[in-house]
Amino acid sequence: MFIFLLKYVSLGVLVFQTTSLVLTMRYSRTLQGEGPRYLASSAVVSAELLKILTCVLLVYKDHSFSIRALNNVLTQEIINKPMDTLKLAIPSGIYTLQNNLLYVALSNLDAATYQVTYQLKILTTALFSVSMLGRRLGVYQWLSLLILMAGVALVQWPSDSSQAHEQLTTGSQFVGLMAVLVACCSSGFAGVYFEKILKETKQSVWVRNIQLGVFGLVFGLMGVFVYDGNRVREYGMFQGYNHLTWTVVALQALGGLVIAAVIKYADNILKGFATSLSIILSTLISYFWLQDFEPTSVISHKSCSLT
Ligand code: C5P
Repeated sequence: MFIFLLKYVSLGVLVFQTTSLVLTMRYSRTLQGEGPRYLASSAVVSAELLKILTCVLLVYKDHSFSIRALNNVLTQEIINKPMDTLKLAIPSGIYTLQNNLLYVALSNLDAATYQVTYQLKILTTALFSVSMLGRRLGVYQWLSLLILMAGVALVQWPSDSSQAHEQLTTGSQFVGLMAVLVACCSSGFAGVYFEKILKETKQSVWVRNIQLGVFGLVFGLMGVFVYDGNRVREYGMFQGYNHLTWTVVALQALGGLVIAAVIKYADNILKGFATSLSIILSTLISYFWLQDFEPTSVISHKSCSLT
């Protein structure tokens, strides 16, 4: 009963987290205040750090708030099992790439288009679940995946020639789309790989998350210095941060925690369906609040106010 509750609570929190992250991230990337814009690579690192700290606190709580027990678990499970820990470098590296691509996508696409396109990851996740975990999917499940893909194609379809022209000349939609497509493949693979590790071994989900996060932090820092090294030297790691940036960072860290719980108590395929619920929410909010998306139909045109 308790596990049943955890499964649906974690799925519910995931819908809330995905919707708020996408809207806040899009808003924070397009809102141009005074001074330099915050570095996406630095936000990825901050989120990773926050996630590790929270997981350490959760392990501490699970061991009756004993520093000695915490120390023992971390030493035994992480430091003394280097090969086990190293396995997490694979999903971690892929997630870091994906987290950076997400910013590229949201700097080039409106929130709802991004969100709908990214749901293609349901298909990649299903394919990886079938091939790596030996899952079986029923006809209705495959059918719903296909319907989702049709929805994705419809949203992307240019609704008139002027819009098509705009896309060709800016090229920004294309860059955004490519970023999302690569992220769909990485999301499917990394999610299923993490699920396999979580369900085939006994370690706590929070310890696994710390292992994942430590590599994420290392890869993320490499990303900062490779892509934004000069800018960091000039204006610092936290240039352009404001309350909105910290909200994005906190939501992204929360995402890591909730996703780990969902993968443990439910599975990656259910996770995909939960996040697609957030399409409906972010489409509605984007339409009424951010006003950068009009749903496509035969009679109405999709408008994109890209920056
Ligand atoms: O889009 P997708 O569901 O694949 O996104 C997964 C997100 O959750 C990534 O940002 C990844 O870094 C994060 N994550 C995490 N900890 C986990 C699993 C995923 O932070 N255990």
